[in-house]
Amino acid sequence: MVSARGLSATYKNSKTKHFYYLCIKTEHMNFEELVLKRQSDRRYLPDAVSKEEIMKCLEAARMSPSACNSQPWKFVVVDDRAKLNEMADAAEGMGMNKFTHGVPVMVAVVLEKMNSSARIGSLLKNKDYSMMDVGMAVEHFCLQAAELGLGTCIIGWFDEKRIAKLLNIPKGRRVPLLIAVGHPNGATRRKSRKPMEEISSWNTY
Ligand SMILES: Cc1cc2nc3c(=O)[nH]c(=O)nc-3n(C[C@H](O)[C@H](O)[C@H](O)COP(=O)(O)O)c2cc1C
Repeated sequence: MVSARGLSATYKNSKTKHFYYLCIKTEHMNFEELVLKRQSDRRYLPDAVSKEEIMKCLEAARMSPSACNSQPWKFVVVDDRAKLNEMADAAEGMGMNKFTHGVPVMVAVVLEKMNSSARIGSLLKNKDYSMMDVGMAVEHFCLQAAELGLGTCIIGWFDEKRIAKLLNIPKGRRVPLLIAVGHPNGATRRKSRKPMEEISSWNTY
């Protein structure tokens, strides 16, 4: 498989790059490769993302696990340029998230009410399962996007009230995350992660 790093060195023009990314998605990528391919992309080509591609990502999110199968999420997909501009304004601040200007699709992830079992479980065990559920669904979305050759960036830093107002999100609903989606304009990076010995142990802490 040609690496994405090799690609950007070889193909400079955006159309050819887009073609390559379309090709890559038909190639077999095993899970390990997919995990390494998914990254936070902060540069995108201007090319539109198709509804079919977004629907595939949403379907992956829909299949994500959740406590008591509560599925406490709703994904609001935004491809309207005026709304995207306002979302970018709402995401930018203190030097963060300038890249969101020009992103072709943004998804607002809305935290819905848990079902009663998950709610009771959350209370009794003092754990907000819904935040975990949403996090997993977002990762499903992003992995599916990566498999399609799309780039994503999970965004947690934004003016939540402004987003909620813009997208007519009912009062009291939280919007924990946004997801930027587009055709990446850059190579796949090496991951920077803590060493395995630091993040895992066997049989005792
Ligand atoms: C909950 C959450 C919130 C994040 N918020 C932002 C954000 O507001 N802006 C941003 O550029 N990246 C954001 N990121 C992306 C992280 O910076 C990124 O996942 C991390 O540095 C690892 O890099 P990688 O995703 O390329 O592997 C967020 C990621 C997560 C999981």
